[in-house]
Amino acid sequence: MSATPTSDPASTPVGIDFGGTGIKGAPVDLEVGDFAAERVRVRTPKPSTPVVVAEVFRELLAAFPGVEGPVGVTVPGIVRHGVVGSAANIDPAWVGTDADALFTEATGREVHVVNDADAAGLAEVRYGAARGRRGLVIVTTLGTGIGSALVHDGRLVPNSELGHLELDGHVAEKRAANSAREREDLSMTAWAERLTAYYRHLERLFSPDLFVVGGGVSKRSDEFLPLLRLDTEVVPATLRNKAGVVGAALHATGG
Ligand code: BGC
Repeated sequence: MSATPTSDPASTPVGIDFGGTGIKGAPVDLEVGDFAAERVRVRTPKPSTPVVVAEVFRELLAAFPGVEGPVGVTVPGIVRHGVVGSAANIDPAWVGTDADALFTEATGREVHVVNDADAAGLAEVRYGAARGRRGLVIVTTLGTGIGSALVHDGRLVPNSELGHLELDGHVAEKRAANSAREREDLSMTAWAERLTAYYRHLERLFSPDLFVVGGGVSKRSDEFLPLLRLDTEVVPATLRNKAGVVGAALHATGG
């Protein structure tokens, strides 16, 4: 695992995207919002408790010798002042962990943790599908859960957790995440019905100017976005699987 960065290594930040199946990291060129060196991916250890994951981060960072900027890390849970506050789809040991302190100690680097959807939202607004957009942009990620980022005039309101709204008497992400489509073997049409109900609920609550739809399934957006019946403009995310890494690096440098 070794890669050579293309921008000034002393100050280049590193983004790490911590997900259920993989942990991806790369130095990020914030001028262009793209990787400054080839990305490194390792499989997420099982169990993926904070202490085990911290060791993986230490090894991953060693793949970028000389890159010394701050490190941003995404976590699929609530993050307040570096402390993880929820673990809907990750090991319960994360709840209450001061992840900023743990990872900073383990890696010897300045590490800042951010909610995964908030990282994607920051990246899409700065470099991607919502670039230059004013007003309220809601970025949602459709994956194992539903992540959300609320960005108003370019400023993030963190930890919106809109995947945990109630939909038809259930936690919305249990009904409308991509994992629900797969688990229940829903057709795109049936899934789009649920998504329409979900996004209509968000419209009533927030009157957004734009929805950005991300997550791995967004590469198939032409199969389901045209089926949504919404009043609000809805577009697919454009940074795809780079959004977490790029957004984490952005967060590490103060957004
Ligand atoms: C978590 C969020 C996360 C989302 C996407 C939800 O279950 O509560 O914090 O952003 O999944 O990973």
